[in-house]
Amino acid sequence: MPRDRLGRSLRDLRISVTDRCSFRCTYCMPRDIFGSEYPFLKREEILTFEEIRRLAGIFADLGARKFRITGGEPLLRKDLDRLVSMLAEIEGKELALTTNGVLLADQAEALAAAGLDRVTVSLDSLDDEVHRRMSDTSIPVASVLAGIKAAERAGLSPLKINAVIRRGVNEDAIVELARRFHGSGHIVRFIEFMDVGTTNGWSLAEVVPAEEMLARLAEVYPLEPLLASYPGEVARRYRFSDGSGEVGIIASVTRPFCGDCTRARLATDGRLFTCLFASTGFDLRGPLREGASDEEIRRLLAVRWTARADRYSEERSAATAGTERIEMSYIGG
Ligand code: GTP
Ligand code: 5AD
Ligand code: SF4
Ligand code: SF4
Repeated sequence: MPRDRLGRSLRDLRISVTDRCSFRCTYCMPRDIFGSEYPFLKREEILTFEEIRRLAGIFADLGARKFRITGGEPLLRKDLDRLVSMLAEIEGKELALTTNGVLLADQAEALAAAGLDRVTVSLDSLDDEVHRRMSDTSIPVASVLAGIKAAERAGLSPLKINAVIRRGVNEDAIVELARRFHGSGHIVRFIEFMDVGTTNGWSLAEVVPAEEMLARLAEVYPLEPLLASYPGEVARRYRFSDGSGEVGIIASVTRPFCGDCTRARLATDGRLFTCLFASTGFDLRGPLREGASDEEIRRLLAVRWTARADRYSEERSAATAGTERIEMSYIGG
């Protein structure tokens, strides 16, 4: 199996299936940039399910075991359960999905039946007004909660709930979400606001550091640290001392985790990104559509992975602040 220049192997492939979303989260797709004039990808630019399945098989040959379907909002892609059933054929894999939850109530059962193993739902607040400010949508929190319920009924529990925390906007969500899901079996993960892309107006002043999030939680629920559940896990885990579950903190700004980063990202248009903060991707759609064999693509990927030296979060500094970077909505969280 190929190792990159820092000795990291490839274990985790994130597959973005659309660059569109019904939300306009301020930290991901601010509406003034991603408005009606924004040049979203055209159908012929987007990888087909057959192309994705073929590439995923080649990534599996190179060591990928975890596949996560993302977007934009992946449930906007028509017949996504068909892609799930195609990816579910890959032996020994784990298949997960990250969604904003709005379409989950309609699709959870079909996705579970198609072979989806796990779901992560993004939810930044339980308060409609705060949720509207974070996600710039009038879709109510209740529809996300209905999606979570449907996923539970479809047997996809326990879920992970991801909440990005932005200073001055949704700090209260830390305790609210912990309370709401305490005892539910689901795991809420609180995420430091990151400088992904170049459009979200990120500033360090808006990052609520992990230590502060933990202190807020500990005021309500005493917590004890847990070991990572697998090598390279991005969230640091804490159990509620009363035994009724756990939460996670993703501190990619204050405690970067590039050293263990085994993730590759396949963008909607078939470009491969070896870092969330990369400015250029490696085109796989071209060779695929020009008739390259599996062996040829495998070799291209192995060469690309072997050349990888990404560690953006560890290098984040004034020097990297102005660099061009791909948008998160393009390559998935
Ligand atoms: P699990 O398999 O459930 O542990 O998934 P995960 O935590 O690897 O994936 P998820 O997509 O839920 O990641 C949660 C958040 O962590 C993302 O939305 C990002 O904000 C952040 N994150 C994930 N991967 C990376 C990464 O490679 N680099 C950085 N800097 N942040 C990441
Ligand atoms: N900072 C941190 N996380 C982000 N996400 C999107 N943009 C950002 C950002 N700027 C993550 C959220 C969401 C997932 C789809 O992407 O966790 O749940
Ligand atoms: Fe859509 Fe997710 Fe980005 Fe929000 S974070 S705009 S829900 S893709
Ligand atoms: Fe991996 Fe890049 Fe994130 Fe570091 S910044 S953890 S190398 S994706």
